[in-house]
Amino acid sequence: MFESEFLTPTQEGKARYQKLVSEAAQIVCQPLPEAPCSGKSATALADLISTDFLPDAGGTSEQIAATLRTVVSNSVAVNHPHTAAHLHCPPLLAALAAEVVINTLNQSMDSFDQAPIATVVEQKMIRWLCAQAGLPATSDGTFTTGGSQSNYMALLLARDTFLQKHWNWSAQKSGLPPEARRLRIFCSEVAHFTVEKAASQLGLGSDAIVRVAVDHCFRMSPAALQESLQTSQAAGLLPLAIVATAGTTDFGSVDPMPKLASLAQAAGAWLHVDAAYGGALLFSAQHRDKLNGIEAADSLGIDFHKLFWQPIPCSAFLLRDSRHFDSIKLNADYLNPEAHKDEGIPNLVTTSLLTTRRFDALKLWISFQTLGRTKLGAMIDGTVELARHSARVIRDTPQLELLCEPQLSTVVFRYVPSHAAFDSDQINTALRQRLFDRGLAVIGHTRVHNRQALKFTCMNPTVTENEMEELIRLVMNQGMTIESGADRRA
Ligand SMILES: Cc1ncc(COP(=O)(O)O)c(C=O)c1O
Repeated sequence: MFESEFLTPTQEGKARYQKLVSEAAQIVCQPLPEAPCSGKSATALADLISTDFLPDAGGTSEQIAATLRTVVSNSVAVNHPHTAAHLHCPPLLAALAAEVVINTLNQSMDSFDQAPIATVVEQKMIRWLCAQAGLPATSDGTFTTGGSQSNYMALLLARDTFLQKHWNWSAQKSGLPPEARRLRIFCSEVAHFTVEKAASQLGLGSDAIVRVAVDHCFRMSPAALQESLQTSQAAGLLPLAIVATAGTTDFGSVDPMPKLASLAQAAGAWLHVDAAYGGALLFSAQHRDKLNGIEAADSLGIDFHKLFWQPIPCSAFLLRDSRHFDSIKLNADYLNPEAHKDEGIPNLVTTSLLTTRRFDALKLWISFQTLGRTKLGAMIDGTVELARHSARVIRDTPQLELLCEPQLSTVVFRYVPSHAAFDSDQINTALRQRLFDRGLAVIGHTRVHNRQALKFTCMNPTVTENEMEELIRLVMNQGMTIESGADRRA
């Protein structure tokens, strides 16, 4: 009796599904909104949402369309030229179309009998990605929900491998030994916060994190790392892992991986490369060399929902020696019984932290197939160039100060008040908030050397240089308006 409501094998069910998909596409495929966001506050948005989430009877299609329109018109327009705050991309059309197939097939990647061809696609794609990064034939990996999960997984496997190797200790069986307090993880001052979060979650504590100084371009200093390693070792502490970042969130800086790899090897530490952002350079025609040394990683994470323009989530964790996955392996009789291994049946739950998991490899594959290597490379390089152009304009604008040369696709800068009496941090904070509140622009913010800064994160290669210049003018005008107090009088 529910056939028309659910996707069923009936023709009627299929026709209704096609209609629903096309109606949903019409709702999201409106012309680009004038504003990148509605600017409404959380309180104002809460007033728009009724808490009657489950009415006794279903609504009409008009009511449902109205609900969806409310959501659409109060979302950030990720493809708007004035949206440039986060590593948050406009998704590729090919990937969106593939999402319809992924969601409809609803394969679950945990066991072969739930996802036969999907398992093979993911396995092959992961091994192909390993080869693209220069990892050896022993490598393997898994799709993850993002860089946070990949960083967690890296430190989990690094921890378990260390405990097994040095103390013949299984963390999976016995938890952590008391000596684990001596383990240390080295990462740069500007490494992603999830490195520290992972250390806390893994029972190592945030005290296990040693933040290493960076150079003027926010890249980890090998000399400072060497010194930190020596100081720690002299104090009886044990180097568990070094986390290199290939593309820091704020500056796009890429740590000098070849040097860090030698230091990691000498210290017997695991080298994880957080390439959530910069991993895209693997496919860049102009900037691939920035990733030299990535092939020495024991593990690495690449986010495809950043500079690969995939809908969230889409990310991979790659592991140099697939045997390290053994430390998280568990067999469940109903899912991946031990016998399957001998029978050659692959169940990907064995290499993942998750059980039920999406077939995200498909959208990446379809995107690659649609674009081809040359166009993908041009999109990546075009986005980097857009940031460089914006930096040139900012450098030539007296009211703005460029805080760091862009190294990937971010531009970090600040508005410089015309008079020293003005509180520069306050103006920069207010400026960004006002752009958002007025629906004018969604730009980023961060702190650099303890001062408030603004940030463009260029993620849209279709944005033109003129549009970036317009955004820069908007920022400047907003700063001058705040300074003049004109907005207070308005
Ligand atoms: C360098 C870096 N690592 C990790 C992450 C976390 O990635 P995700 O948000 O995909 O979990 C980010 C997010 O921006 C990042 O920039």
